[in-house]
Amino acid sequence: MTVRHATLQLMVSIAIFCFLCGINVGEQSGIKKKEMNDKITRLMQQMTREEKIGQLNLVSLGFDITGPIVSQNVDENIRNGLVGGVFNTYTPIAVRKIQELAVNSSRLHIPLIFGYDVIHGHRTIFPIALGLSSTWDMKLIEQSARIAAREASADGLQWVFSPMVDITRDPRWGRISEGSGEDPWLGSQIAKAMVRGYQGDDLMKKDTVMACVKHFALYGGAEGGRDYNTVDMSRIRMYQDYLPPYQAAVDADVGSVMTSFNEVDGIPASANKWLLDDLLRHQWNFTGFIVTDYTAINEMVDHGIGNLKQVSALALKAGVDMDMVGEGFLRTLSESLDENDITQQHIDRACWRVLETKYKLGLFDDPYLYCDENRAATEILTIENRLAAKEISKRSFVLLKNANQTLPLNRRGITVALIGPLADDQRNMLGSWSAAGDWKQSVSVATGIKNLVGDEVKVVYSKGANIIDDPDILDQLNANGGDIILDDQSLEILIEQAVCETQNADVIVAVLGESQGMSGEAASRSDIGLPENQKKLLRALFDTTIPVVLVLMNGRPLTLTWENDHAAAILETWFPGTEAGNAIAEVLFGEYNPSGKLTVTFPRNVGQIPVYYNHKNTGRPYDGHSMEKYKSRYLDVSNDPLYPFGFGLSYTTFEYSPLKLDKTNLTGNQLLTVRVLIRNSGTYAGEEVVQLYIHDPIASVTRAAKELKRFEKVFLQPTEHKEVAFDITVDDLKFYNSDLQYVWEPGEFIIHVGTNSQNTQAVSVHWFK
Ligand code: NOJ
Repeated sequence: MTVRHATLQLMVSIAIFCFLCGINVGEQSGIKKKEMNDKITRLMQQMTREEKIGQLNLVSLGFDITGPIVSQNVDENIRNGLVGGVFNTYTPIAVRKIQELAVNSSRLHIPLIFGYDVIHGHRTIFPIALGLSSTWDMKLIEQSARIAAREASADGLQWVFSPMVDITRDPRWGRISEGSGEDPWLGSQIAKAMVRGYQGDDLMKKDTVMACVKHFALYGGAEGGRDYNTVDMSRIRMYQDYLPPYQAAVDADVGSVMTSFNEVDGIPASANKWLLDDLLRHQWNFTGFIVTDYTAINEMVDHGIGNLKQVSALALKAGVDMDMVGEGFLRTLSESLDENDITQQHIDRACWRVLETKYKLGLFDDPYLYCDENRAATEILTIENRLAAKEISKRSFVLLKNANQTLPLNRRGITVALIGPLADDQRNMLGSWSAAGDWKQSVSVATGIKNLVGDEVKVVYSKGANIIDDPDILDQLNANGGDIILDDQSLEILIEQAVCETQNADVIVAVLGESQGMSGEAASRSDIGLPENQKKLLRALFDTTIPVVLVLMNGRPLTLTWENDHAAAILETWFPGTEAGNAIAEVLFGEYNPSGKLTVTFPRNVGQIPVYYNHKNTGRPYDGHSMEKYKSRYLDVSNDPLYPFGFGLSYTTFEYSPLKLDKTNLTGNQLLTVRVLIRNSGTYAGEEVVQLYIHDPIASVTRAAKELKRFEKVFLQPTEHKEVAFDITVDDLKFYNSDLQYVWEPGEFIIHVGTNSQNTQAVSVHWFK
């Protein structure tokens, strides 16, 4: 083939690709689009087949190991133009070194893209995502992503593997900690806020990074809550409950999407053409690039859909652009092309997308744009960032119980017995995926209390128990970086010491929960209670009859029925991040009045799972108290959860006036305004999250008992009141019918407004076409 012929062929293939992707080169807006397309076209004309495939290869190199295998021969592959991107390396110096290798030593000098698991902060660590979601504060959530973007980009990175928006209804799944809970609508608002925070308004700016929404799709539906397990659900459930947050991220212009490990409708996500091409690219108009999760292509061999060559070809044809770590693309695509199992166009379109992303990130203009050591020295872990982390942490805590106004604690003249394996701990404050966070920078609860109250309050400390002492679990956790250092004394002695310390105490603050490794990836649990040894400690503390404030740290809902019966107060703090102790102290001593609300249901026991607020009514709904036999219920436990979605107390109380509606009969595109007056009827200033749910009692498909559609956070001084007004349109009535059309059907609708998903006032409206 002559050079001219080859060039012509490439241009035709690119034109076809642009057409297929909906990219119209001539009409693209913005000054750089034409320049960009010309640049990529010119570059691809010079690239060999191997170099194009090389752009599709993402390798793990450097500081962290976040999966089962580690990339080999990376330097040599970079020199040979066989690597498109690197993750797990950061700092301007380390990134520059590898970038120099690509830019100076590879034939076409194409810069690499550098990614990393920046999940809830980069160096300044915010609460885990489940905690962040409990703030119900989109501005703060966006701010946390903005700060993470600034720190990550100052640290050499331009691509973050976040937000994780997988909906889950199963707290056994350890990765529930990484998501925003069980609600698709709230999850969608959070997905958008995170993407905005990371990407800002211009990816080329040196302090923005490209987001990667994950894990596409349905990863949170793993059977039995066991990580990486089979997912099987109806299309209507996917569309209604699980897909909206991914779509919201796409609508917010997320630059990349990561595939999930699980299958979707019998085909693993990374080879699922319906998912990646029909749905994501064509129905949702996603134009960025698709990367697999870690070795997800190779894992399709075990899923049982082919050998490495076959599954790699399937992935490429389905629409995957980049292969994370597995090197299936690198090793087999050339052969598949020779055998006509894939076409040159398949390779070209993936390569184009990767190069386009690099261009949009400014890497072709300046491969070292993100390698500014001065920024790293001045913009990372700053006092401002830590202060922001503290504010956000405080707002993520959920007060689950507060009998007799045990909290807040008196700031003067009391003795506090601070007990528990997490009470003077720094290691676990950051939670899982605190990848570049340094636990030595985190503040323990003991230090936080000291910082706040100094000598005004007498604090006596005792560990009381190890985090966990089950040897099998310990071995597993420590084999994978669990860092659990045991106190050698027996549990009995630890408990005795702790009880002894409580003797003159006015209150016990017991800081208990999971270690950071007990939730997160590959950390499913079948028993989601506090570990047995911690329960024994707690029993002994309850026996003292001194009021016990239980401060919890955990990455998932726990089963807390017994704890709820006996503790005077319970404060859920998740894993709060770098500023953990300072934030907790400010809430315990009333400097800040907790306002977080659960974004996930807490079951009474594991047998209730899945238990979630937006469930269906069934044909035999149970009223909660009748003795009738043939009802949908358990003999041994209530249908109600321990703490419902949207639940969270405050040090003050809020009164809701009766709801006022401007209309009760509506037609077509009219607007419905629902008003409610909220009054702070207690003695502390505080914030309430006012929640609005809608129920559609008669429809062509069965509908959830309630669905969250709006919320507003109001701050009120004691005795102050404010009116909250929600505007509802027919868009809020829409759902997926059995043809998967997003429609609304006329008739009656019940509007619920309240302080959580269970405790609401309801009014009925009729809405006709
Ligand atoms: C596997 C995880 O599933 C994913 O969330 C993460 O981004 C990658 N590993 C990279 O570390």
